[in-house]
Amino acid sequence: MLDTEKKIVKVASHVDIFLKNYLKKRTENTKLFNALKYGLFSGGKKFRSYLIVTSGKLFNLNYKQLIAIGAAVECMHSYSLIHDDLPSMDDDDFRRGKKSTHKVFGEATAILAGNSLLTLAFEILSSNNININAKSKINLINALASSAGHSGIAGGQYLDLKFEKMRVNKNLIIDMQNKKTGELISFCTESAAIMANKNSHRKLLKRIGLDIGLLFQITDDLLDLYGDKNKTGKPTRRDKQKGKATVIKSLGINKTIEFCYELLDNITDKLENKYGSRANSLVDSVNFLLRRDH
Ligand code: IPE
Ligand code: IPE
Ligand code: MG
Ligand code: MG
Ligand code: MG
Repeated sequence: MLDTEKKIVKVASHVDIFLKNYLKKRTENTKLFNALKYGLFSGGKKFRSYLIVTSGKLFNLNYKQLIAIGAAVECMHSYSLIHDDLPSMDDDDFRRGKKSTHKVFGEATAILAGNSLLTLAFEILSSNNININAKSKINLINALASSAGHSGIAGGQYLDLKFEKMRVNKNLIIDMQNKKTGELISFCTESAAIMANKNSHRKLLKRIGLDIGLLFQITDDLLDLYGDKNKTGKPTRRDKQKGKATVIKSLGINKTIEFCYELLDNITDKLENKYGSRANSLVDSVNFLLRRDH
């Protein structure tokens, strides 16, 4: 296992412990609750939580608080994956090495489990587990909300489906990917500035987060094309089948790889210029994206 991966696994285990404790008091013996847990505790990488932790190092933030924010983001992310796999969306039967939530619990319950996870994210964010001043808390809630709605995940997913089988130029593809993936990932970097009460850093960290998100989605698309489904835990070679608009489809493989390195250099320069060695682990987590196999 790569060194960075070991660190991600450790953060993932802490986020899972937080979520298990949080849900303990709220346990219900219903199919809906089981579906929610199935979608949430299905072994995702928790790369977003790791980004929150490494972004937190820019400002020396409290680890436990960062894990709580990570937990909220993972709820949001798991919701988006449950819905992404539905027959009316990507129609995928496997996720994280197991059957997709709708294959086990049925479509209606999967939709409701997704909705429940979406709101659980805000429940956690507004809870006493996040111990910061009220203004910053409202800023966090506001930023997470806008990363999820029509200008974030939902808007991006809408465009992703609309663009299927269409010829779409690179800028429109980037706009779609910023929305469906980049906005939530940029919340992970921006939230560090919000937690630290450093409003003047928000714009830069959001911009950097969007580029990290783009790199994340492009490497996801590369894994769809070249990856091993036993490692990714989800079906591969699906994007072409579905006619998805991707950067790879628009630029071809060589230019796409070049573009990835441009993004990486750009992100690294901005972070090192502003934060010096405090950005080391955040820079390392971005580098990991180009080495990942899942
Ligand atoms: C997959 O995200 C969906 C995209 C935005 C590309 P991840 O690759 O983070 O999925 P998990 O959480 O590790 O399963
Ligand atoms: C999904 O993108 C992005 C989301 C917001 C869920 P993909 O459709 O490429 O994600 P995978 O490959 O199914 O995980
Ligand atoms: Mg999709
Ligand atoms: Mg999909
Ligand atoms: Mg994909």
